Amino acid sequence: MPTQKQITDAANALVRGELVVMPTETVYGLAADATNEAAVKRIFTTKGRPADHPLIVHVRKGDDLRQWAKRLPSHVPPLIAAFWPGPLTLILKKTDAIPDVVTGGQNTVGLRCPAHPVAQALLEVFAKYGSGIVAAPSANRFGRVSPTTAAHVVSEFGDLLNANETTSPKKRITLLDGGACDVGIESTILDLSGKEPVLLRPGAISAEDIARVTGVMPKSRDTVRLSNTGLPRVSGDLAAHYAPNTPLKLLPTTALLSEVDALLAAANRVAVLAFAAKPKTAPSPVGIGMRHLRPLIWLQAPAKAEDYARDLYASLRTLDAAGTAMILVEAPPTDAAWDAVNDRLSRAAVGAGKH
Ligand code: TXA
Ligand code: MG
Repeated sequence: MPTQKQITDAANALVRGELVVMPTETVYGLAADATNEAAVKRIFTTKGRPADHPLIVHVRKGDDLRQWAKRLPSHVPPLIAAFWPGPLTLILKKTDAIPDVVTGGQNTVGLRCPAHPVAQALLEVFAKYGSGIVAAPSANRFGRVSPTTAAHVVSEFGDLLNANETTSPKKRITLLDGGACDVGIESTILDLSGKEPVLLRPGAISAEDIARVTGVMPKSRDTVRLSNTGLPRVSGDLAAHYAPNTPLKLLPTTALLSEVDALLAAANRVAVLAFAAKPKTAPSPVGIGMRHLRPLIWLQAPAKAEDYARDLYASLRTLDAAGTAMILVEAPPTDAAWDAVNDRLSRAAVGAGKH
């Protein structure tokens, strides 16, 4: 964990308009002072992110949201009491204190209070010397797999992190290493800016969890898309996202082994993420390749959705780094507990191999 001095130095970097990578409980975030337009613009250029994809603004525990949100609908206080600090982002009508560059020109802002103690400590110090709020997308290049460890961040932005005193401060990024992220996938996003709550991105906090607190089951994004044209732009809305370089296929359990077999038979190296352990012998009697399991990289995935989510991005990075012809992922169950994982996997499959 970073020392208090490292946290203070990082807060000062934010005050100077520089970028800081901070750990959160979901994924690492590439943070800038949310009220500093030039600093926020640097987030977009560093990530290669289109300017119309809005950023989430991270606030301190106990921060008065009326500075940042025009109206606090009645669902807000109970949701905050139940889930903040934690992996829930609320979309609300913004005040003028949030620059348009943060929200991609929209009149709403995503607010989230991260639970990671290092993120809270950073915001705490930053509030003493600066605005106390940071805009932070996941600390990866646009469209790629989100980072859940400091090492992942180094592999995304290593050159900028190694920058020294002589490097232009505009390019320098300070990294706070807070260990591996507990949740492992991005926050649940709930839009409360319209008439009815809409779940824009599934995450560790489920629609059912939200309904238990508000008494209203949020509408799913897909239902709303059919009935509404003025939709919020969510980069998670892109079919392709969270993607490795290697092509990735999601397969039902039964098809997985025969696909492995066929690829190995054609002399390909294959990477697999499956619920079962790596087979010791040829799973299929016809497979010629399965007698030689060496070109097979196999990660066994946890059986519980929560654990699967925590390990997902690290697993995808490991499988991607193996440089095989294909990553095969055994499709997880389809019940609600797996919504967030299935959302990330299906987008990874669409975007994979296209960089
Ligand atoms: O867990 C998380 O939310 C992480 C950590 C760092 O906090 N952040 C994160 O940020 O996942 P990012 O930029 O990778 O994804 C943010 C999502 C995007 O899909 C963006 O379009 C959506 O939030 N978003 C932000 N503000 C919005 C708004 N006003 N309306 C609709 N969607 C919004
Ligand atoms: Mg992201």
